[in-house]
Amino acid sequence: MLLYVLAILQVACWTLTSSKAVTLPTKKTNIELLMPDVQPKVPDTYLCHSIKMNKTATYITGFVPHAQMETAHHMLLYGCSEPGDDAAVWNCGEMAQSDNTGNFKLGPTCQSGSKILYAWAMDATSLDLPQGVAFKVGGNTNVNYLVLQVHYKNVDKFLPPKSETDNSGITLVTTKTPMPKRAGVYLLGTMGSIPQHSTVYMESACSFMDDLDIVPFAFRTHTHQLGKVVSGYRIRDGEWTEIGRQNPRLPQMFYNATTPNMDVSKGDILAARCTMKNDLDHEVRIGSTQNDEMCNFYIMYYVNGDQIMNRDYCFSAGPDTWYWDDFDRADEMNLGAVPKTASVVPGTSEVLRQTSFGGEGNDGETSIDQLVESLGEANVEELLKELYQSQREDDLYTDDSYDLYPRRV
Ligand code: CU
Ligand code: CU
Repeated sequence: MLLYVLAILQVACWTLTSSKAVTLPTKKTNIELLMPDVQPKVPDTYLCHSIKMNKTATYITGFVPHAQMETAHHMLLYGCSEPGDDAAVWNCGEMAQSDNTGNFKLGPTCQSGSKILYAWAMDATSLDLPQGVAFKVGGNTNVNYLVLQVHYKNVDKFLPPKSETDNSGITLVTTKTPMPKRAGVYLLGTMGSIPQHSTVYMESACSFMDDLDIVPFAFRTHTHQLGKVVSGYRIRDGEWTEIGRQNPRLPQMFYNATTPNMDVSKGDILAARCTMKNDLDHEVRIGSTQNDEMCNFYIMYYVNGDQIMNRDYCFSAGPDTWYWDDFDRADEMNLGAVPKTASVVPGTSEVLRQTSFGGEGNDGETSIDQLVESLGEANVEELLKELYQSQREDDLYTDDSYDLYPRRV
């Protein structure tokens, strides 16, 4: 009997030591998130399709896009607390005021808790998450659904005589085994407006207050038609380090961060600038119709461990009320050291200078903070939501930032 117990113990020990010594291959499962044979009939239709996540967490370690370039103009993957609609497929086009496609219900991408996780656009190379990094979804996260959004620009093949159907989508490479590094997305953006015939800077900045070290590894820019270049930085001890810079007229997917393995930690400042040029005869405001503008800089980052950032967005009032020099830590930003390239379109050399400045500026950052204090965060989100509520857009790409805030049904 004793021998028998010893033998079992020995086997147990051997198993323990061997599992320590050898990293067992993680069991990977593919989840197919594909359009269920849809047949959009109107050009520039945006369709959404959702899947529900499990009660136990799933770790997404990779994305494999399946799309024919001539069919899908772009695909975006969102995590939502609640999807925009219960239907298998719905019309989630931002510009659609009503469903003109005939056969789909109209709804937002997410009803609440929207987070962008992946973006694919024509001629995009696929984004690989770094080794050991995963998005955690389902379980106790507030990502209860994944929503795939596909922009069908050209729909000829869905019409007679071809009458084809489509199942563009994304294969998610997943595992149930917790991954050592968790991914998250942080968004910087502004409100504000761009006067006619002018170039202005839409600037945002926030202190990084979390007790965390994050490593930004990819970024995405989003504006509508007036954006020339969007750039984002970490400022530490007055030194500016570029996280990413891109021409937002290029496919608005995630690109590799400029500075690999750079960390951001407590006390650092994160800042972004959109250089906007308005040649029109009228002022353009932040909003989400095709006639409005947006200024968004997304940072995709990872942390070691399970704790991602608490507050994952940073918005300023923008021009002509708020610029970097209105930030309460402007001195520490060392504005003399702003890289000249901040307003240079990649691949060109011209510095796009501001031609229009606001007045003295009231501190937009403070006023948002004061709002949060007086109204509570939920109400401020409600307020921001109001600002975005009426918005629709049809730009070549899509819009996602206003989905950040929960919407009214
Ligand atoms: Cu598109
Ligand atoms: Cu937009």
